[in-house]
Amino acid sequence: MSKYLLKYEEYRTYTEEILQKALSEMHCHTEVLQKSIDYSLMAGGKRIRPVLFLAMMETLGLDYRSERAFAVAVECIHTYSLIHDDLPSMDNDDFRRGKPSNHKVFGEANAILAGDGLLSYAFELLIGECYKGVRYVNAAKTLASAAGLQGMVAGQSADLLHSGKSVSEVGEAELQMIHFHKTANLIAAPLIMAANLAEKYEEETREFGMSLGFLFQVTDDILDETGDEREMGKTLGKDKAEGKLTCVKVYGLEKSKRLRDELTQKCLALLDKIDANTSFLKELVISLRNRNK
Ligand code: IPE
Ligand code: IPE
Ligand code: MG
Ligand code: MG
Ligand code: MG
Repeated sequence: MSKYLLKYEEYRTYTEEILQKALSEMHCHTEVLQKSIDYSLMAGGKRIRPVLFLAMMETLGLDYRSERAFAVAVECIHTYSLIHDDLPSMDNDDFRRGKPSNHKVFGEANAILAGDGLLSYAFELLIGECYKGVRYVNAAKTLASAAGLQGMVAGQSADLLHSGKSVSEVGEAELQMIHFHKTANLIAAPLIMAANLAEKYEEETREFGMSLGFLFQVTDDILDETGDEREMGKTLGKDKAEGKLTCVKVYGLEKSKRLRDELTQKCLALLDKIDANTSFLKELVISLRNRNK
């Protein structure tokens, strides 16, 4: 295994440990809700958002094991967004992380509540850190705004609003709005949180994170057409069927792949603005460009 893969595995294993610990501390009052949250949170997934937090912490000279609340909170918010994204009233997806979607197993009401519970729990964790000082307040605020009405929720709303419209009605501007809000915010947030805690390179990190998030969603759109369902662990081909405003719809497959490569170069160049050892993050950019899951 390469040095990069070993390090990714170290961060991912640590993430699994702290998520398991968080789950044991949640104390849901009904068994069905506990099971529903456990089912989605511990279903695997790449854990890219916590890994980005841990890697940026280490890049900026902090102990990556020192602030677990932020790593757990971002994965809780991401998992909630996936549970709700799959609901029949949203993307109506039956598979997620290689298993039936949460609502297929626990029903819609419990899936909604599992999402609500994960979102609220994330805020409990964030608020619990704020007494430590302004750095912590800034990091908590970063995740709050990335998740909410200026972030992921806004992007999901625009995603639904523009579904089914033709490219003559909606185009590049709306596509960028959707991608930056529904996805890039929650990819950038863990990186920026680490920069907030380190009080270093906050603007440079934001710029890098938003470009990485755009790259991530462009790749997701491409994989929806070209990927393998088993690898991806979700039903593919649905964006086209539902008339979603994706990168492939606006630019076509070939131009989307060129955009993916341009964004990859942009991310690598942006990392050069950070005066630290960014070699892990650079390899991570390349691996997200090449990902098949
Ligand atoms: C899927 O996110 C949703 C998007 C923003 C495209 P991931 O691809 O990170 O999903 P998991 O966490 O690995 O399942
Ligand atoms: C996901 O976008 C963005 C979220 C906030 C969950 P998609 O709807 O494209 O994600 P997948 O393809 O279902 O994972
Ligand atoms: Mg969606
Ligand atoms: Mg979806
Ligand atoms: Mg998708």
